[in-house]
Amino acid sequence: MSKIPKTMTGAYLPGDSTVEFKMYNIPEPGHGEVLLKTKVCTICGSDIRCIYHEHLGKGPEGYQKGMIAGHEPAGQIIKCGPSMRRFKEGDRVLVYHISGCGLCNDCRRGYMISCTSEKYRKAYGWQRNGGMAPYILVEEKDLVLLPDSLTYADGAQVACGFGTVYEGLEKIGICGNDAVLVTGLGPVGLAALQLAKAMGATLTIGTDVSEARMKIAKKLKLADHVIKAGPDTVAQIRALTGGMGVERAVECSANDKGRLTAIQATRKWGKIVFIGEGGTVKFNPSPDIIHDQKTIYGSWVTNIWRMEELVERLVRWNIHPDKLITHRFPLETASEAYALMAGGNCGKVAVCFDEELKGRKSC
Ligand SMILES: NC(=O)c1ccc[n+]([C@@H]2O[C@H](COP(=O)([O-])OP(=O)(O)OC[C@H]3O[C@@H](n4cnc5c(N)ncnc54)[C@H](O)[C@@H]3O)[C@@H](O)[C@H]2O)c1
Ligand SMILES: [Zn+2]
Ligand SMILES: [Zn+2]
Repeated sequence: MSKIPKTMTGAYLPGDSTVEFKMYNIPEPGHGEVLLKTKVCTICGSDIRCIYHEHLGKGPEGYQKGMIAGHEPAGQIIKCGPSMRRFKEGDRVLVYHISGCGLCNDCRRGYMISCTSEKYRKAYGWQRNGGMAPYILVEEKDLVLLPDSLTYADGAQVACGFGTVYEGLEKIGICGNDAVLVTGLGPVGLAALQLAKAMGATLTIGTDVSEARMKIAKKLKLADHVIKAGPDTVAQIRALTGGMGVERAVECSANDKGRLTAIQATRKWGKIVFIGEGGTVKFNPSPDIIHDQKTIYGSWVTNIWRMEELVERLVRWNIHPDKLITHRFPLETASEAYALMAGGNCGKVAVCFDEELKGRKSC
């Protein structure tokens, strides 16, 4: 492997819809840590909403100024600290994007996302340096091995995007009985359509207000029906399901109207999972959920064992998340990458290094 330099350029987000660069020392991995050569770091809707436009989170949830951004990295281990237990130099890996204390109840369940330790919970790209730089220091316990047949760009999307969706789908349970509605066809919603189909859904319906997003879903043939969101979306979905509505709905828009559609287009006894974050929703409990015996689940990211199983299943299902990447940028033009993602006229946007800059042909 090539010699590791002493310093590198990394990108951080000052919170005014711009990207800035500065020099960082390349850290030496300590006990239980590895240094990754970053290959890809994809951009998430949460990066845009909570960091890029403004710094929304507070305290331990807040983005720490000057921190290298990017919580969706994948890369190759280039150097190991002492006492590795499982991983070794050369391994291709993705990263569970929150490093937890390892000892609280949530960490013991594998949900480091909700680690309760204010001192030790640190998300990559928020409270510790993330993937928008050529190297990233990662704890061995946060790594998931990437199967040979998945690309780094596939892997980068597993933690936050596909993993989050998989968790939500497992919570509501998907099988061959189900028609599944996905509201919001950003990268998360597009992942939901793909995984729902792989898990057995026999009818998939996607809805968005954005023509660009609808076009991607259609072009990649990710849904049986793609509907423009509007005042009669619920009626259209009912018409496609014999007047009944879908058995399962996956809410990925974070929009109040999208949320209401997910609830109202679900049939009696159906299940809805809310994945889109922020904002609010107003509905009438009796007619909208209680009298129809519906259940709404909330789902936050996933646990690391499910992520490990997901990469195995992606191989079995022949699903390549990198298909959703419409634009790849080198780190020097990361500001264009964030601006594009913020504008929404795109699928998934990735900042790439080395062989991933060329990438595979996507949509
Ligand atoms: N729960 C979690 O753990 C978790 C993890 C990752 C991301 N997220 C959240 O999931 C959401 C989706 O992420 P993304 O990266 O795809 O974001 P995104 O902003 O790219 O996608 C949201 C989509 O919803 C569409 N939309 C807006 N109003 C709509 C409506 N009324 N009906 C249907 N669609 C509508 C938008 O046009 C857009 O295409 C974000 O809110 C993100 O913060 C949650
Ligand atoms: Zn994310
Ligand atoms: Zn913890």
